[in-house]
Amino acid sequence: MFLCLLLVLLLVCSTQANQFLGTVMSYYPGNTNANGSVTVDLRYRLNFQNCTNLSWECLSGNCGNESLVAVFEYMESNEEWCKTEGIFTRQVPSNAPFQLWLNGGHWIDSITNGIVNSRAVTLVELRNRSDIGKANSSPQTSIIAAVRVPSNCQRNFSLLAFDPDGDNVQCRYGNTSLSECNPCTAPSVISLSSSCSLSFSPTSSSNEGPYAVQLVMEDFPTQTITLTQTDGTQTTLTPEDAISKIPVQFVLWVDPPAPSCTEGLYLPVFVSPTPPNRAQLYTSVFRFVEINIQAEANISTISELLVSVRFNIISMTLGPGQFRLLWTPSVEESGRSYPICFLVTAIHNLSTFNSDLRCVIVTVINGTTTSATTPASTTPTDTTTGTTTSATTPASTTSTDTTTNTTTSATTPASTTSTDTTTNTTTSATTPASTTSTDTTTNTTTSATTPASTTSTGPTTNTTTSATTPASTTSTDVIGLRVKVSSTYQLSNNQVLSYIQQVKNSLMISGLPDFSVNIVSNSAAETTVPSSLA
Ligand SMILES: *[C@@H]1O[C@H](CO)[C@@H](O)[C@H](O)[C@H]1NC(C)=O
Ligand SMILES: *[C@@H]1O[C@H](CO)[C@@H](O)[C@H](O)[C@H]1NC(C)=O
Ligand SMILES: *[C@@H]1O[C@H](CO)[C@@H](O)[C@H](O)[C@H]1NC(C)=O
Ligand SMILES: *[C@@H]1O[C@H](CO)[C@@H](O)[C@H](O)[C@H]1NC(C)=O
Ligand SMILES: *[C@@H]1O[C@H](CO)[C@@H](O)[C@H](O)[C@H]1NC(C)=O
Ligand SMILES: *[C@@H]1O[C@H](CO)[C@@H](O)[C@H](O)[C@H]1NC(C)=O
Ligand SMILES: *[C@@H]1O[C@H](CO)[C@@H](O)[C@H](O)[C@H]1NC(C)=O
Ligand SMILES: *[C@@H]1O[C@H](CO)[C@@H](O)[C@H](O)[C@H]1NC(C)=O
Ligand SMILES: *[C@@H]1O[C@H](CO)[C@@H](O)[C@H](O)[C@H]1NC(C)=O
Ligand SMILES: *[C@@H]1O[C@H](CO)[C@@H](O)[C@H](O)[C@H]1NC(C)=O
Ligand SMILES: *[C@@H]1O[C@H](CO)[C@@H](O)[C@H](O)[C@H]1NC(C)=O
Ligand SMILES: *[C@@H]1O[C@H](CO)[C@@H](O)[C@H](O)[C@H]1NC(C)=O
Repeated sequence: MFLCLLLVLLLVCSTQANQFLGTVMSYYPGNTNANGSVTVDLRYRLNFQNCTNLSWECLSGNCGNESLVAVFEYMESNEEWCKTEGIFTRQVPSNAPFQLWLNGGHWIDSITNGIVNSRAVTLVELRNRSDIGKANSSPQTSIIAAVRVPSNCQRNFSLLAFDPDGDNVQCRYGNTSLSECNPCTAPSVISLSSSCSLSFSPTSSSNEGPYAVQLVMEDFPTQTITLTQTDGTQTTLTPEDAISKIPVQFVLWVDPPAPSCTEGLYLPVFVSPTPPNRAQLYTSVFRFVEINIQAEANISTISELLVSVRFNIISMTLGPGQFRLLWTPSVEESGRSYPICFLVTAIHNLSTFNSDLRCVIVTVINGTTTSATTPASTTPTDTTTGTTTSATTPASTTSTDTTTNTTTSATTPASTTSTDTTTNTTTSATTPASTTSTDTTTNTTTSATTPASTTSTGPTTNTTTSATTPASTTSTDVIGLRVKVSSTYQLSNNQVLSYIQQVKNSLMISGLPDFSVNIVSNSAAETTVPSSLA
């Protein structure tokens, strides 16, 4: 009898072995409707070794109805993690607080601090704040699924702790009795400051292995405020009371000792023009922001860039240790700020080494007309990263802009002058001259694709998008999109698909239904070096 139970339990265990590697969630408040219902836009990242379905469920309060906006699932190349990024909207009947949780999965095997079950909680607070006259936005942060440190090196990680409302953001370990993790045993090998810096000090090899880091990030008002619920009831919060909370969970992997802890030998180090940690970048809807990243390691070989967010972000490898990220915000992202974190990995004799973690925050300026006044340069707000980085680059990360020429003087890192790194992406989607003759469904979808009709031009990347619908589709809602990607160097089919996937994601987030993508041809025939760069 006892044996049977044991077998059943083992079976249950193996089918639930979804090999969790952590999660992050954050939210922005949406609209308030006439009937008192409110919406909230939530984003999460879930990291697994194998793709799996673990979903956020209601823990307390009325969590309302969920409508999915987009889910983006992909494998991280070398590390073979499955990452899921989800964007969804919840409509709740009033602005009363509620909690969502993730419960029931399993962390990866042999977590050194003994954590087996995965659990995470988000507290969504939407009551009207007296200080800002609107609902709260959660802190915004991002994290790589697994961060590696050699056991013999001092390494510090400063998590991005940005708050759109200007609140005071603090981090703490989860509390088991608040269901924030199951259980919340903290890793012995790191110390956490309330300002969200993690410090790892050299430790013995007996402490090597993966640790589950289960943090909670909270925003505190800078003064006493009141929260007003739809029904008129009020609650007072002091600067000691958290407004909302989000989970920040990931794996810290303590590896065997490195031959040297000096950055730039085995451990890759970021150099110019990589933006400093916590740099704030500005862009506007349909205008891409470009982040140039360069890392060096004299002894190990740089292998890849790991990025915390991939949805709608184009990641390019330009050369050894040289990377570029491009992100073009959609209308829904207007007025909001989004974090992007990254690190670089390097390999030597089958050992993998990580650089430190860098995060930037990209703010999407509301509307296009205001953009003339916006700064294109990065504003380094960081004081924690020592070394030379802050001096290196404010100018090199730019949001490109066709309407002002103020930005162009700031754009040119020496590295972009090499012509073979320039990409020219021409995307032709499809809109009718015949718009008027198409039926209602096509009309809504085509208008949703208008992102396509804006042209954003950069000093190095030329993205032109134009649209046409075959006249033959008048009586159906089938729309053909022909997307041409041209480049100054030959792209692999996977690279082409990756670009097109980004375009597709943009269109889908703007309302276009799902559609399939095929490569019609991929040839080197049309390659030319643009004269502007010769
Ligand atoms: C409240 O209004 C919104 C938007 O008009 C609607 O979607 C929702 O169903 C309404 N809720 C209730 C409970 O009537
Ligand atoms: C993950 O997927 C691979 C390939 O599908 C499979 O071989 C492996 O057993 C899976 N691992 C777990 C823990 O489910
Ligand atoms: C898992 O998710 C996929 C895609 O999101 C879906 O097709 C599948 O039915 C889900 N499986 C379960 C067991 O929920
Ligand atoms: C949620 O959906 C149910 C049924 O689909 C509906 O009755 C209810 O009004 C919805 N709630 C909100 C807050 O929209
Ligand atoms: C929130 O309160 C402010 C005044 O403090 C008011 O102007 C605003 O309309 C309120 N917002 C909502 C959604 O009730
Ligand atoms: C890392 O953090 C510890 C503790 O906060 C501090 O003493 C140390 O100087 C930091 N090291 C670096 C390289 O920043
Ligand atoms: C965890 O939460 C409980 C209930 O709020 C509280 O009593 C306890 O002090 C908390 N523990 C820690 C370590 O903060
Ligand atoms: C952004 O612009 C829209 C209208 O274009 C306006 O409704 C919204 O309040 C603005 N948001 C901010 C943060 O200014
Ligand atoms: C913008 O370009 C125009 C024409 O080239 C030039 O006259 C003007 O001085 C430029 N403005 C700035 C701020 O560089
Ligand atoms: C289609 O879109 C055009 C332009 O936005 C608009 O004038 C027209 O009324 C729309 N037609 C329908 C049927 O919605
Ligand atoms: C971008 O491409 C368009 C059309 O292909 C061309 O007219 C324009 O001059 C190009 N812009 C730059 C900056 O090269
Ligand atoms: C981009 O490609 C288009 C069409 O192939 C070409 O007309 C344009 O000059 C190119 N621009 C750049 C900057 O390469």
